[in-house]
Amino acid sequence: MTISFGIDIGGSGIKGAPVDLQKGKFAAKRLRIPTPQPSTPQACGEVIASIVDYFADAVPAKSPVGITIPGPVQHGTVPFMANLSQEWVGFPADEYLKERLGRPVSLFNDADAAGLAEVKYGAAKDHPGLVIVTTLGTGIGTAMIYNGVLIPNSELGHLEIDGYDAEKRAASSIKENEGLSYPQWAERLQRYYSHVEMLLSPDLFVVGGGVSKDWEEFGPLLTLRTPIVPAALQNKAGIIGAAIAAEEAVEHPDALAKKR
Ligand code: BGC
Repeated sequence: MTISFGIDIGGSGIKGAPVDLQKGKFAAKRLRIPTPQPSTPQACGEVIASIVDYFADAVPAKSPVGITIPGPVQHGTVPFMANLSQEWVGFPADEYLKERLGRPVSLFNDADAAGLAEVKYGAAKDHPGLVIVTTLGTGIGTAMIYNGVLIPNSELGHLEIDGYDAEKRAASSIKENEGLSYPQWAERLQRYYSHVEMLLSPDLFVVGGGVSKDWEEFGPLLTLRTPIVPAALQNKAGIIGAAIAAEEAVEHPDALAKKR
């Protein structure tokens, strides 16, 4: 059994669990702690450290941790941040977390991690061509995977559509904040997915995020050329993808290493 460890930093909660990489399942019940406010790197670092400590028995000392963040990650830093403190922007996040945790750290975009997990264990397993995994939550995250290879850091949740940042119209947090019914929200999703479809002609859309458990309420209302399916791992995909990223960094230390 290969156990790896993943932590998913979200706009409202920071969640972690040991992951059994053979099964693609949590090896213990996950722990969730609300995201600190303000959500600075240091404040989030403390929460992450307490999650790692909590699972100390399950995860060997000095073993790597995969951490996902709701922003693009380039060479270990975050060039742009929509839904956490702006102090993340340009901050040497991977170095800091490595130091704070005393372990190797793989820092990864949250939607990219979810995409990796869906390709390895979930709804996009072995799917050829271009798969776009979207996560609907506080924002909209996207992962583009072509023939099983991730093209990292796509930020298609920030496409400007009808004069709006797309996630400000169609994320599931907006559904909550504006009190939209599922059919009302589905109209916005229709506009979003048909625009992405027009731009990229994908072979499959996968819809993730916690709201994917309510797929029957909105999925059947969408009309697209592209097959569109709910994520199999729902909101576990971020943690599982983070754990995959941690393990891959160990197996192929150069693959995710800094390149300049
Ligand atoms: C961020 C993405 C992230 C998504 C989901 C967006 O606001 O820019 O990087 O994947 O939210 O958390």
